[in-house]
Amino acid sequence: MTIRITWARAIAAIVALALAGLLFAWSGVFNIAASSGHWKITDWFLHWTMRNSVRTHAAFTAPDDPKAKQGLVSAAGLFRASCASCHGAPGVRPLPVMQAATPSPPISR
Ligand code: HEC
Repeated sequence: MTIRITWARAIAAIVALALAGLLFAWSGVFNIAASSGHWKITDWFLHWTMRNSVRTHAAFTAPDDPKAKQGLVSAAGLFRASCASCHGAPGVRPLPVMQAATPSPPISR
């Protein structure tokens, strides 16, 4: 006996897979704890997606005047005020709580 693939069966299979996925999510069996990190492939995929997004959006964005020294000073001030607590800066260590975070932020030196 051969099983023929029809549109109705294909759609039924896709709906069944989606329902199985929902049932799995609803069961709570999957561990979402941030402390365990991601699988390597998930980690790679998320970073790949992020970098692609940054590259694409950066292609359509330009600083008002890249040569203005004012901009460089305010960028350094912004980094100190908004980023250094987690990423550190030359001579500045990140906050201890961020050094212990998962994932840990990349450190500026
Ligand atoms: C609350 C803490 C925190 C603050 C504040 C913060 N970051 Fe991060 N940042 C992180 C963490 C954690 C990661 C690592 C994320 C990961 O690996 O998934 C990260 C990753 C990054 C990365 C690396 C992306 C890559 O390629 O993997 C860059 C670049 C970055 N942050 C820039 C900044 C900038 C610029 C600021 C300030 C405007 C900033 N961050 C503020 C926590 C922070």
